[in-house]
Amino acid sequence: MSRPSSPDFAGIRQQALTELSAAADPAALQAWRNRYLGRQGETQKLLDGLKSLPPAERPAAGKAANDLRKALEEAWAEKGGGETTGTAAAPGELDPTLPGKPYPSGAVHVLTQTLDRITDIFHRLGFALADGPEIETEHHNFDALNTHADHPARDEQDTFYLNLPPGPHGRWLLRTQTSTVQIRVLENRKPPIKIIAPGRCYRRDEVDATHGIFFHQVEGLCVGEGIGLPHLKGVLEYFFRELMGEGTKVRLRPHYFPFTEPSFEVDFSIPGKTFRGKEWLEIAGCGLVHPNVLRGVGVDPEKYTGYAFGLGVERIAMVRHGIPDLRLFYENDVRFLKQFAAHGAV
Ligand code: DAH
Repeated sequence: MSRPSSPDFAGIRQQALTELSAAADPAALQAWRNRYLGRQGETQKLLDGLKSLPPAERPAAGKAANDLRKALEEAWAEKGGGETTGTAAAPGELDPTLPGKPYPSGAVHVLTQTLDRITDIFHRLGFALADGPEIETEHHNFDALNTHADHPARDEQDTFYLNLPPGPHGRWLLRTQTSTVQIRVLENRKPPIKIIAPGRCYRRDEVDATHGIFFHQVEGLCVGEGIGLPHLKGVLEYFFRELMGEGTKVRLRPHYFPFTEPSFEVDFSIPGKTFRGKEWLEIAGCGLVHPNVLRGVGVDPEKYTGYAFGLGVERIAMVRHGIPDLRLFYENDVRFLKQFAAHGAV
């Protein structure tokens, strides 16, 4: 009777590796895997056969069988088989069960998100969207807004003039404020009017953490019969509560703007929050539309009255997100922009 002896592990290993390197197509690879690593494959047979060896030989043979199996599994993985082991396809075939390749996607810029949020709230209050050009006339940017040529407010809003021959409405410039859209709308439509006008503005400013040569505003204008301060205050209170959360308070502080009378600066406060140690933060300008503005566009100020307001979009985004420097918005550093990528649009 022939005594069972330890199998030729080295020979089997050699042969398996030679066959594996010769396997050139998915079918051959799969056949190799079944033959050596399958449930009834060679390595399994070796492990099953350990029982019939003399007890003294079993530990060494067991170790050799396990080593062999491991070596063949590694060779299989190296060949690329590892990728599809346990999945739905043979090596080299498309495997729909594998995770997809990540596709880089963009996101809405934090300023656009802020604008979307602002316009969304005003839509709910019945404001329509209006638009006006960024290249404006002196007339629309200043004169029609009750800011005549030697008015000191023109200095504060120094801007970029275009090297073009002046038209019937004076020189061409980059608008310093979205208040121009008040005039554009009033020229073209009869009251009642209730619009917001978001857009970009320009000024000749020294650039620092809170000033740039361009920025964004949202203008609001409501003109109709019997429109007054309570409407303005109500709209601002609703708006800032929606934007900043329940408990947000708004106060109007007397101020001066050429195109409103009376005029106010708008401050808001949020319960439990301070801004550089102060409870109130200035955030907008507003007032009742000056009769001269209405008269200038042919609207009878005895019959119609209205309110207007202007918000700084960067300022609001800075407060909402704790952004310390305005320049971050425009540098397009993705490390900054990505922080807001998850917020989506509105
Ligand atoms: N246009 C003003 C500015 O840029 C902001 C402003 C103040 C707009 C009062 C208004 C307003 O409509 O009523 O400083």
